Order: sequence, then structure tokens, then C-alpha cells
Amino acid sequence: MTTAKIDLKQYIRNIPDFPKPGILFYDISTLMRNADAWQIAMGRLAAAVAPWAPDMLAAIESRGFLTAAPLASRLGCGLVMLRKPGKLPGKTVSHSYDLEYGSDSLHIQADAIQPGQRVVVMDDLLATGGTLVASVSLLRKVGADVVGAATMIELTGLGGRGRLDVPVKTLVSYD
Ligand code: PRP
Ligand code: MG
Repeated sequence: MTTAKIDLKQYIRNIPDFPKPGILFYDISTLMRNADAWQIAMGRLAAAVAPWAPDMLAAIESRGFLTAAPLASRLGCGLVMLRKPGKLPGKTVSHSYDLEYGSDSLHIQADAIQPGQRVVVMDDLLATGGTLVASVSLLRKVGADVVGAATMIELTGLGGRGRLDVPVKTLVSYD
């Protein structure tokens, strides 16, 4: 069976009013539960990311872990975690960023990246782009050459892609 025409949207469940009223949540749980669909998604992500020839994938906590870890294994490159505060042992470097209300920060182990290593930053979903923009800044602080960003889902109406100064690849788009 050819898989080229399979639309991954049919495996992504849309849940209204989560996590708060007015938000439509794109739930990848239903995609991951289906072994064939998940294989197809990871194959397409691998094909999108491989041309960047990364040395390392950077996985954004928490749902970015789900895409980056299998992809690093497929591509034969390293994997580094970008984590929420208080999770990583040893010396860390952080980057704070603004949210709609308040702020948050991402952290990386200070010795995670060798200067100049080619890094692709990975998440499940690109919305406003705030998380990916902060991740790119954090990676640059520790000397990474950030060569791209990739997610499974993109919410095009929120303009996140335009806030990033690296190439972006996504598998499925919603307005
Ligand atoms: C979601 C999603 C992305 C981010 C996208 O993560 O997984 O990481 O929001 O939004 P942005 O483009 O507007 O920054 P969330 O903070 O809900 O946390 P989780 O991954 O830990 O569930
Ligand atoms: Mg997330």
C-alpha cells in the first residue's frame, strides 16, 4: 500500500475548549496510538529534517520529546533536552520568555552542545512561535548553529513561522 497520500489530519483529534474555553486543542495522542500512522509521521519528519544534516536534535519539553527522540534514532544523530526549570542536573544555561500572562524559561545543560554543532530544534506544534523562538535563542547561547526547526503541526493563523529566523518544516497545517 502506498502511504504517500495518507492525510495525517484524520488521526489528529480536535478537542474544543481545552485547556481553557475557546481553545481548540490538536491532540496527537490519537496519532501516536496508531502504529502505522505514527510510522508515517516519523518517516515524513525524517525526510524533512535529514537534508539539514543535523549533528543533534534539540527536544522541547514536553511534547517535543515525543517527536525528537524517535527522529534522532532514525537519523543517527544526538539528542539534547530543553527543559522547564528545575529538571536538569549539573550546570545549566537558561532563557526566559514572555507568555500572554507572565513568563517562563527553558534550560539546557551547559555542556550539551559543542560550539558550531548543527542543531535542529523540534516540537510537536508551532502556534505563536514563542516557544521555538526562545529555544533558538537558548541554543545559540550555548554555541549551537541552529539550522532549522520542525514540528508535526502548524497553526498558520498565529504567524509563528514569521517570528523565526531559521527555516521551518511542518507536516500538517491548520488555519
Ligand atoms: C505547547 C506545544 C508547543 C507550544 C506551542 O506546549 O507543545 O510546545 O505550546 O506554542 P507557541 O508556538 O505559542 O509557543 P505547552 O506549553 O502546552 O506544554 P507541553 O508541551 O508540556 O504540553
Ligand atoms: Mg510543548
